[in-house]
Amino acid sequence: MKKKIISVVLASLLTVAALAGCGNSTAAPAETASTGETLVVGTNAAFPPFEYVGDDGQPDGFDMALIKAIGAKIGMEVQIQDMEFDSLVSSIGSKIDVAIAGMTVTEERQKTVDFSESYYEAVQAVVVPKGSAIAAADDLKNLNIGVQLGTTGEFIADEIEGANVSAYNKAIDAVNDLINGRVDCVIVDKNPAEVFGAQYSDKVDVLPGTSFDFEPEFYAIALPKGNTDLANKINAAIQELKADGTYDSLVKQYIEE
Ligand code: ARG
Repeated sequence: MKKKIISVVLASLLTVAALAGCGNSTAAPAETASTGETLVVGTNAAFPPFEYVGDDGQPDGFDMALIKAIGAKIGMEVQIQDMEFDSLVSSIGSKIDVAIAGMTVTEERQKTVDFSESYYEAVQAVVVPKGSAIAAADDLKNLNIGVQLGTTGEFIADEIEGANVSAYNKAIDAVNDLINGRVDCVIVDKNPAEVFGAQYSDKVDVLPGTSFDFEPEFYAIALPKGNTDLANKINAAIQELKADGTYDSLVKQYIEE
């Protein structure tokens, strides 16, 4: 009996010690969003050619290569976190330090995050079934429109008169529903639209945003609000990568290939 009590006491002491150790290690920095040597970068790897899951199961693409090159310039190790696009902005400062995800600078997003200087000019495109009669802005009225949740494509679709908008976690799921006839068109950024269009070239056409008077959009890295030190470092790195030819070679490798 006595022996048992002692072992129970010992066990609970050990538990307390273990918990104390545990508490210490979670309190240590570098576990979550860090300000040290690791830059935790959020993305949504379902947006080729900017980000996609590569053959090795790791996020790859233009943005991934760009942020790694930036990390090397500023002396920080880049750690990628793949997540829903719609969660990226609200996760900055908690789960992630910054986000690179073909993200367009918008006034709404600027209320909660800052942006680096822009690294790419884009525009929305319209994916339609092959041979569709859709050709201009007026043709989009009263249609079933597929978009990726929380994207500028969704914001544009929401403004179209009579549109019935379906928002998907991944743009490719919207394209699949277009092929299945569940939506009439998909509004998505031009470069991914072209990748999906090439993948299903027998089933869909990709119409340029200019036919629909879509405005140009500017991709930038989303940053914690007010962290000018990090913003300055990242902007300087982007400048250097443009000046030394790295940026152009990444465009050639990933976007114009
Ligand atoms: N450019 C659009 C936006 O900022 C779409 C970006 C989607 N990116 C992604 N990785 N899924 O809203």
